Amino acid sequence: MRFVDTLEKKRNGEPLTTEEIEAFVQGYTEGTIPDYQASAFLMAIYFQGMTPREQGDLTQAMARSGDVLDLSLIDGVKVDKHSTGGVGDTTTLILVPLVAACGVPVAKMSGRGLGHTGGTLDKLEAIPGFHIERTEREFIEQVNTIGAAVIGQTGNLAPADKKLYALRDVTATVNSIPLIASSIMSKKIASGADAIVLDVKVGDGAFMKTKEEAEELARAMVAIGEAVGRHTSAVLSNMDEPLGRAVGNALEVQEAIETLRGEGPADLTELSIQLGGRMLVAGQRANTVEEGCLRIREAMESGRALDVFRQMIEAQGGDASVVDDFSLFAQADYEEDVLAQRDGYVTHIVANEIGLASMKLGAGRATKDDQIDPAVGIVLHKKVGDAVRQGELIATVYAQSQHVAPSVAQIEQAYTIGDERIEPKPLLYLFEKEQIGNELDCKDSND
Ligand code: URA
Ligand code: CA
Repeated sequence: MRFVDTLEKKRNGEPLTTEEIEAFVQGYTEGTIPDYQASAFLMAIYFQGMTPREQGDLTQAMARSGDVLDLSLIDGVKVDKHSTGGVGDTTTLILVPLVAACGVPVAKMSGRGLGHTGGTLDKLEAIPGFHIERTEREFIEQVNTIGAAVIGQTGNLAPADKKLYALRDVTATVNSIPLIASSIMSKKIASGADAIVLDVKVGDGAFMKTKEEAEELARAMVAIGEAVGRHTSAVLSNMDEPLGRAVGNALEVQEAIETLRGEGPADLTELSIQLGGRMLVAGQRANTVEEGCLRIREAMESGRALDVFRQMIEAQGGDASVVDDFSLFAQADYEEDVLAQRDGYVTHIVANEIGLASMKLGAGRATKDDQIDPAVGIVLHKKVGDAVRQGELIATVYAQSQHVAPSVAQIEQAYTIGDERIEPKPLLYLFEKEQIGNELDCKDSND
């Protein structure tokens, strides 16, 4: 079989066989299919799409291109969670201890990635002493002992995806739903979870700008997960303004701790409860999402989730006293106020601009070799729907340099203050695979 024949088939819009897809993934990973053919193939997929069966085959082939973690030594249903990425999204740090405190083991591998703030790993490393390297055995032991662990991805997780993602990045083929869905799901499947809860972000600050696109991506990922035998569900959540108030690594850990105490921002708290409730259903510790959400709330209010977080920090070498004393986190040298320019109501905060401002302060990476500064970032004191007076504090910038005027200006620009109060958009557009049958159901949470 010559690869050019497979290419021609896809160019003409004919579905490929499982063998043809496997041969592509293997050939490209091993280097027998050159970049120019793979580029043409990706572009053909970009225009012709893939059937659900083809997407499942591509996902499986990429998942099997490297190590596939075996978590069978951990008792219970292992549930993972994935967010498609937004500004100030701290939910993983909150969900891992919350769900573990309710009896669902969480063995999570996370990435660093590029972006506005670091990934989950960078955030955890803002905790003095915290280690993210663990052998597979230590990882499994920790989950069996305290119910939770978050470690760095092993070097050889879905290498086919790593290579293809880099090629997509330079061939204008990132933005294809079959390719995004199979990329994300291949890594989730290789990390060994039995069930997956997806948080697909919608809005200015997200990959998917409209609810329709986000829904299509969610459907594609749920279908892949179910096709490969992993219980998968999804919610769509709003990312027009940053989630919570903190954007920055140590600042987001502090926000996560406050949320675990039940004192977090309303949007972040609500999203954590909703995702956590679904993770309990997926982990067979709740019969309904409502019951799951109630149990999650109880783990928050009783302090049990915060205890699990302390134990996880200790187990991974960190100083758990940060939970009770935020002065133990690295501190920024300079704090600068951002003030409202006029009276009115906040009608919009451009999430992406807040993210970029935070990245310029040093909270995120523009290229993979950039160093993260755990202490810097932004705290938003006003969010969409809030009333403000001219000269009132709307945000605080935490920086290591005195020259923060450009960041202050960027944050001022990101805020729109209007005359009329507007209702913030609903946080969640629920999206669930129904318990019986294959039909997917999508409805607004405030119906
Ligand atoms: N995140 C991924 O892991 N893969 C994609 O293709 C897009 C976002
Ligand atoms: Ca946040």
